[in-house]
Amino acid sequence: MRTDGYGRFFYLPIEQEAYEMESTSVITERKNNKAGFEPRIVAFLCTWCSYAGADLAGTSRLHYPPNVMPIRVMCSGRVDAEFIIQAFREGADAVAVFGCHPGDCHYINGNHKTMGRIPILKKMLAQFGIEPERLQLHWVSASEGPRFAEIVTNMTAQIRELGPLELEICDPK
Ligand code: FES
Repeated sequence: MRTDGYGRFFYLPIEQEAYEMESTSVITERKNNKAGFEPRIVAFLCTWCSYAGADLAGTSRLHYPPNVMPIRVMCSGRVDAEFIIQAFREGADAVAVFGCHPGDCHYINGNHKTMGRIPILKKMLAQFGIEPERLQLHWVSASEGPRFAEIVTNMTAQIRELGPLELEICDPK
């Protein structure tokens, strides 16, 4: 039984109750399985800003955790929902989308589309028991190597704390 925004009680359909209970048990199991866990983070980086920023972090010899698997795309707006879902299905513990700062997208409004897409996807993924923190959107320009390193460091720590994502839909390689 749940309450709506007005404090009225209602029942969820039995399948949904069962689904939510199952999701909760999967999350609990995942949280108990953290020992020695190193997250696998798939990062989609737009080639014009964020990939160059990540490259700068590397050439500047900045230290950040090696947990990120970078995938170069032309624009953050090119990152379809399907790419993100596939990353989770194939064993990613988290996905990050990196793009140019708003107003700097080389395709005018690609990052604006991403900005609209990510919150919707977070809500959808929550239905599968995937915490919103596991999908992140960040803006990094070509000159922001230190910012890239800082974001990756913080995100890795955050996902390490959440524990591995071991949903039944995952097929870790
Ligand atoms: Fe970087 Fe569009 S080109 S977000």
